[in-house]
Amino acid sequence: MSIPINLEGRVILVCGVGKGGIGGPTARIISAAGATVVAVDKTQQLLDPTIADIKAAGGRCHGIVADLMDPAQTDPIVATAVERFGRLDGVANVAGGTRADEWMRLEETPLSSFHASLNLNFEYTFRICRDAARYMIKNNIRGSLVNVGSISSLNSAPYHGPYGAAKAAMSALTRTMAIEWQPYGIRTNTVHPGAVPTERTKSFGSDPSKNAGMPQVVRTAPEAVGHAIAFFLSDLASGITGQNLVVDSGLSANYCSGAINVDSLPKKS
Ligand SMILES: NC(=O)c1ccc[n+]([C@@H]2O[C@H](COP(=O)([O-])OP(=O)(O)OC[C@H]3O[C@@H](n4cnc5c(N)ncnc54)[C@H](O)[C@@H]3O)[C@@H](O)[C@H]2O)c1
Repeated sequence: MSIPINLEGRVILVCGVGKGGIGGPTARIISAAGATVVAVDKTQQLLDPTIADIKAAGGRCHGIVADLMDPAQTDPIVATAVERFGRLDGVANVAGGTRADEWMRLEETPLSSFHASLNLNFEYTFRICRDAARYMIKNNIRGSLVNVGSISSLNSAPYHGPYGAAKAAMSALTRTMAIEWQPYGIRTNTVHPGAVPTERTKSFGSDPSKNAGMPQVVRTAPEAVGHAIAFFLSDLASGITGQNLVVDSGLSANYCSGAINVDSLPKKS
């Protein structure tokens, strides 16, 4: 006997579905579990490969081009998903991450970089979850919302402090969502990946000041994160809300925030 993750009949919004990241495999796993996927990314070029993969496997997927950092572009997303497929049952907010140019000491960090980190890794997840919950409450849908954090939010985040703080704020707000929306049957959880080789993190190269570039760090496959997200979206997780699940192959248990040895890093004189 097996117990499958079954998302048949569900419509799931996945934000950030680029094929070379965590979101592309996540969207494919959610589709393979039976859900219709509404995929969001910055450009049609980023959407197309994941949409093509899902359709080639016999799944259903609709793409929405939107910059998640721009409220004017995110405001219509939930309504568009509902208009296209008649309902919305779940959300996976995967889009996020550090930019290559934001890895620096806190005393050198410009406010513009701080704000950009907070918008991409905290604010937009609030806007999308709020809009989805409004719809679910109004339509009596017992949905599931999953936000993607980071092990950088669990302890310290040397050289990427605003990112770690943004993800910590996001998981704190996700717990509050769980309590406020529990009476409506809406569950909200956070999945915290460790070091996942994606096109973005691989582009950082081997610079030791960028966590993901460290060769000795234990890696986790994007699909492992996608499986955890699909689990939270499914009824197998019906008793779980307001929780944090770390998917890092043991990295944080060993190294806390990711193994940066600050003594080995360059300092400005
Ligand atoms: N890769 C890792 O090692 C790692 C570690 C910890 C946490 N995470 C988290 O996992 C998530 C995915 O990371 P990833 O490595 O797959 O990143 P990625 O950059 O490969 O993928 C992110 C996707 O989101 C999209 N996106 C980014 N900004 C957007 C915007 N403003 N509007 C619309 N779409 C946008 C990108 O185009 C891309 O398709 C992020 O939230 C990241 O913080 C990743």
